[in-house]
Amino acid sequence: MSNNLLKGKRGIIFGALNDKSIAWKVAVKAVEQGAKITLANTAMALRMGGVNELGEKLGATVIPADATSVEELEAVFTQSIEALGGKIDFVLHSIGMSPNVRKNIPYDDINYANLGKTLDVSATSFHKMMQVAKKMDAINEEGSIVALTHIAAQRTFTGYNDMADAKALLESYGRSFGYVYGRDKKVRVNTISQSPTPTTAGEGISGMTAFLDFAEKMSPLGNASADECADYCIVMFSDFTKKVTMQNLFHDGGFSNMGLTQAIVEDYIEKQ
Ligand code: NAI
Repeated sequence: MSNNLLKGKRGIIFGALNDKSIAWKVAVKAVEQGAKITLANTAMALRMGGVNELGEKLGATVIPADATSVEELEAVFTQSIEALGGKIDFVLHSIGMSPNVRKNIPYDDINYANLGKTLDVSATSFHKMMQVAKKMDAINEEGSIVALTHIAAQRTFTGYNDMADAKALLESYGRSFGYVYGRDKKVRVNTISQSPTPTTAGEGISGMTAFLDFAEKMSPLGNASADECADYCIVMFSDFTKKVTMQNLFHDGGFSNMGLTQAIVEDYIEKQ
């Protein structure tokens, strides 16, 4: 269903890998809502996933770029402005990767070279993206930038490892850059804190199946799906949220404000 919420807008979507990816769903919905977009991901991800097919289906130019490289980010903005015929109105940062998580290295035996990579890919790429865009003056006034995050930035969840530290840094970049970008260019910056979601990145977290079940039972509205997260991103790119900036917005069915639900009590009693 289209309400043309993004009619006439131009956007860049970073991080669509396959049809489970949150960014994939955002790309489809953004075009449905009238936007023109480009898609960016690493060269390896473009070879592995179906992003080129998605690009063809949506009429979106696909741009290979490692989001940790300032030069490659500059190329994404230059090529996007050219392909879309003008400055950008919205950007999605939907990028995460931890070599420590991938290799199942415990948090108290962390490899620091890996940690550096986790922070660069999953957090500092967000700062780089905004710094590049601002220096190039690539984003229109009232533009909107969104990055995806997780509540492990505020509270400790077993298995989340150094991704928790990366998300805390990502959210901080959202606030700090949100201030200067808002002040100087009237561009808004927010992070959306999403429920656990069964995607390629999500399934890499150890104990994910148990966490999905626990979060479902701890959330009065249940876990938010990737599709629902994409809907929220669209609203944040639309003109209905023009004065929302520097926020970490929970999209988690109420999980973040719950202490204990009846569903968990019953689960616990059943298992006794
Ligand atoms: P996904 O695996 O589909 O997406 C992660 C993306 O990051 C992939 O497209 C991957 O190619 C990209 N990426 C990795 N290294 C990169 C680099 N150097 N340069 C550019 N792109 C790179 O998984 P998902 O779940 O859609 O992840 C999207 C975002 O949502 C991530 O930030 C993730 O942490 C966040 N998130 C996910 C949750 C979940 O449970 N799946 C919960 C809350 C937030």
